[in-house]
Amino acid sequence: MGEAAAAGAASPRLNILFGVTGGIAAYKAVHAIRGLVLEGHHVHVVATEAALRFVGKPTLEAISRNPVHSDVYEGVAEVRHVALGQAADVIVIAPATANTIAKLAMGIADDLLGNSVLASTAPLVIAPAMHTEMWQHPATVANVELLRQRGATIVGPAVGQLTGSDSGPGRLVEPEEVVEAALAAVGPGDLAGRSIVVTAGGTREPIDPVRFVGNRSTGRQGVALAIAASRRGADVTLVLANAEVPAPAGMTVVPVSSTAELQAAVTDAAASADVVVMAAAVADYRPASVAEAKIKKDSQGDTLALELVRNPDILAELSAQRRPGQLVVGFAAETEGDDAERLRLGREKVTRKGCDFLVLNRVGWAEGFATEGNSVTMLNSAGTIVGEASGSKVSVANRILDLLI
Ligand code: CTP
Repeated sequence: MGEAAAAGAASPRLNILFGVTGGIAAYKAVHAIRGLVLEGHHVHVVATEAALRFVGKPTLEAISRNPVHSDVYEGVAEVRHVALGQAADVIVIAPATANTIAKLAMGIADDLLGNSVLASTAPLVIAPAMHTEMWQHPATVANVELLRQRGATIVGPAVGQLTGSDSGPGRLVEPEEVVEAALAAVGPGDLAGRSIVVTAGGTREPIDPVRFVGNRSTGRQGVALAIAASRRGADVTLVLANAEVPAPAGMTVVPVSSTAELQAAVTDAAASADVVVMAAAVADYRPASVAEAKIKKDSQGDTLALELVRNPDILAELSAQRRPGQLVVGFAAETEGDDAERLRLGREKVTRKGCDFLVLNRVGWAEGFATEGNSVTMLNSAGTIVGEASGSKVSVANRILDLLI
């Protein structure tokens, strides 16, 4: 049994055995493996010989960042044919052909994947992919039913265009669904029973009915935090301001636009939350008055002066009002390039805001916004560095959650 399963909870860093079998949809497995790796999990690929006719070992090794195993007679000294299955927190097979499904149902262990599955007590997730006739054949129907009865999760297949000109049920589900199913199969996470409020995106302050003062935040890091917390079992409320990424499923999403709306929504949700994370970029100022109709150039001349008034500091207010035991976390995006100076600004900010933790990152014209990755330093209320993380925004999110736990 893997580390996480042994600990009785879903650790953010799972040991995932990813089986790939011989179908054309094997190319989609590459994206699912990449998704799991980017979330910080250890992925060990076991490919059947047929799978390696569809995708090359170097591709699977580069994407999984681990050696790819295929042969029962390799690694005999380390008893690999059982070790891989024993170490897994979850086994995912995508795509799973009709042949592999039949062998799994019968407990046949004539290849490394079959051995690994039999040697494991980890949850099994199977994503079938085959032509409709094969999927609907009574043999496959019975095999799938048997595997389901034994507790396997069957994801899909999806309905749609198949490899030839035919279409119907049999398509491998999208890689994101394979990732979701793999993580869900591990069971309740280490944030089960906790409620977390996350704000994400950037607020917009209206100038007139068609214009606003805004910022470049896309909401990616905040949304990644909400997703990571939800996957780890938390009850998540996401207050989402003008994000460029879609609102995730599986949580309460409160769409807002202005700072006043965000303040109302987060204050309301914070009343019953264990943790509040202010990842949103909040406008510090708003126009003193909002024009009822579109401002016309003719009424302004060559220059236009906008009078802005200060917005409330929501993070400081939430910190001041927090209940005993509640954690309040702020984010600080600084353009300062010098590490020591940026740290000084962060320390000063954590004191000023009175929050429990501050996640500090560097932003600039080309950094921080609309990027896939992030690099952050985490400070506690005393300004001490308590963690550093870099990588995909989801893996950074998981490291932040580790710290909160
Ligand atoms: N924040 C807030 N309310 C505001 C401004 C910021 O709650 N009116 C929160 C942000 O959500 C973030 C943290 O405060 O969690 C730091 O935001 P930042 O913009 O870096 O700090 P400011 O207080 O605006 O300081 P400055 O812009 O002067 O660096």
